[in-house]
Amino acid sequence: MPEAITLQSDLRQPEKLMLAGDWHGNLPWAFKAIHFAKANGADTILHVGDFGWWAPIERTFQFLAEVDKELKTTGIDLLWVDGNHEDHAFWHQFNKPGSYPLTTMSYSSITHLPRGFRWKWWGDTWMALGGAHSVDRSWSTEGETWWPGEWLQDDQLEYAMRPGKVDIIVAHDAPTNVTIPGIVPGRAIYLNIGGLKRRVPQVDLLKAEEHRARIQQVVDTVKPVEFYHGHYHRAYQSLARHEGGGYTLCRGLDKDETTMAKNTHFITGGTQDDDDD
Ligand SMILES: [Fe+2]
Ligand SMILES: [Fe+2]
Repeated sequence: MPEAITLQSDLRQPEKLMLAGDWHGNLPWAFKAIHFAKANGADTILHVGDFGWWAPIERTFQFLAEVDKELKTTGIDLLWVDGNHEDHAFWHQFNKPGSYPLTTMSYSSITHLPRGFRWKWWGDTWMALGGAHSVDRSWSTEGETWWPGEWLQDDQLEYAMRPGKVDIIVAHDAPTNVTIPGIVPGRAIYLNIGGLKRRVPQVDLLKAEEHRARIQQVVDTVKPVEFYHGHYHRAYQSLARHEGGGYTLCRGLDKDETTMAKNTHFITGGTQDDDDD
């Protein structure tokens, strides 16, 4: 595990920001995406989770070290919210309500944004909201390949819903009220597990919906203008209704081994500006 850490209450405002969807510890893809950010003039990457901070094994350390090195070479900082596929045995202690972003000395260009943490960029208030339900849980081992900490816990949920205006949420999971292309609640999902097509148990589909309802609760309470997420591996943009009759613009990002257009999205200003691209 990283030997030393720094905590910070503020984040440098980017000149140009690149949001990125799930990388799953895919190093060649991470390299490609970092260079895509550089070629497009971005100085900051904000990753929406399933980044690749996996269990403390050599492969994880190598991924983090190589990504950190490439970030330093290109002069880019990477911020990330945790997905479900991360080492929550480690990260849960830094996701407690009131936690600040954490940078380890070993990988000093990579900063974790805790659940419910809020910050200001371009006059907007942003909020990080990691976590999701792993539908491949049946084929995983608790404490080794998945952890209960992947769920947005009750105290984290309460904290995320505290008073104060939030303009933009960056999450891993999506709220209930948005229609994601190809994701139909109640319909069977099949996964490729070790080369075999396996059907996700109904209980996990229901649990996944339950987690989305938690995210919707946050959206209903803080009513953000925009919401970015990963997890479903779909690039799309759609409106989500929230309590009180208003709408939040949701944007989903696709995963590694798709296209850069689907995996990323660039931002150069606030929700009041006209120069979003
Ligand atoms: Fe995920
Ligand atoms: Fe994922």
